[in-house]
Amino acid sequence: MTPPITDDPQRAADTLGQHGVVAIPTETVYGLAALVHDEVAVGRVFDIKGRPRSHPLIVHLAQSDDPSRWGHMSRAAVELATRYWPGPLTLLVPRTPLVPDWVTGGRDTVALRVPRHPLTLRLLELLDDALVAPSANRFGRVSPTRAQHVVDDLGSDVDLILDGGPCTVGVESTIVECVDDNVSILRPGAISREDITRTIGRAPIAPTGVSRAPGMLSSHYAPRARVIVCDDRQAALSQSAELVSRGHSTAIVWEPDVAVYAARLYDLMREADSSGVQFILAVLPSEEGLGTAVRDRLFKAAAE
Ligand code: TXA
Ligand code: MG
Repeated sequence: MTPPITDDPQRAADTLGQHGVVAIPTETVYGLAALVHDEVAVGRVFDIKGRPRSHPLIVHLAQSDDPSRWGHMSRAAVELATRYWPGPLTLLVPRTPLVPDWVTGGRDTVALRVPRHPLTLRLLELLDDALVAPSANRFGRVSPTRAQHVVDDLGSDVDLILDGGPCTVGVESTIVECVDDNVSILRPGAISREDITRTIGRAPIAPTGVSRAPGMLSSHYAPRARVIVCDDRQAALSQSAELVSRGHSTAIVWEPDVAVYAARLYDLMREADSSGVQFILAVLPSEEGLGTAVRDRLFKAAAE
């Protein structure tokens, strides 16, 4: 069943105010949103996704909100927020008492982000609360980058979809942990290591601790077809030819421009899946800027 779809942020705000769960567009991927302080609606987000409650959610803030109400912003966190919000950057910072336990799975940190999509920015301004929004896919599947993907994955489990068109970035936000003076990248995204180094005047350090962000589990972004990563297009073509000669069906996933590749990545994987191929040969972009994020998602998709 198809859920109602709108492009009216006021209607989305009304549905959220009635304890609803609404799929919202962001520049990265679509999110499955509920009001942060609505415990029942946030519980539904976990249930719809099939996600363990211990696996914390990102809190999405209005541009006019003050992030220090929600988290303790170190100097580096302030510099990054000033430079990249609204945008594809999530800051993991120590939480304040305003953040309920049901959002963080009881952790002492909270993930904050101001997304850069005009409909969602307007929606956030209409609310008296912030929004939790994990990617609007079932747990373990690739994230949705179009309203239709949300329909395909979640159907009428969601109360409403706010349709903002295809996502322009296409891979999830960069997650940067800023605790005390330490800055580390937990998930690569469109805001690159180079961007962060330039903004805070030093290179981020390697993350410490075990699996700081639980979503960093490999095979978290997996299509149904088996994904094989290839170093270049030629390698993908010859692997494909070999598989086809053995009676298998294949699809090649690649775009020469890395920004287009990121924007189309999940759509290409979904297309390959719906055509029913057994193998996806995915070409790795070079390891710089956004290429690092695309490589990360491809390696995760390829992990069994
Ligand atoms: O681009 C994005 O970030 C999208 C859009 C919708 O904003 N959201 C997204 O949410 O990717 P999600 O839940 O699919 O991924 C967020 C990741 C998860 O791996 C989660 O475990 C981690 O962030 N995370 C959130 N809060 C955390 C916390 N307090 N401590 C550690 N990890 C946290
Ligand atoms: Mg996700």
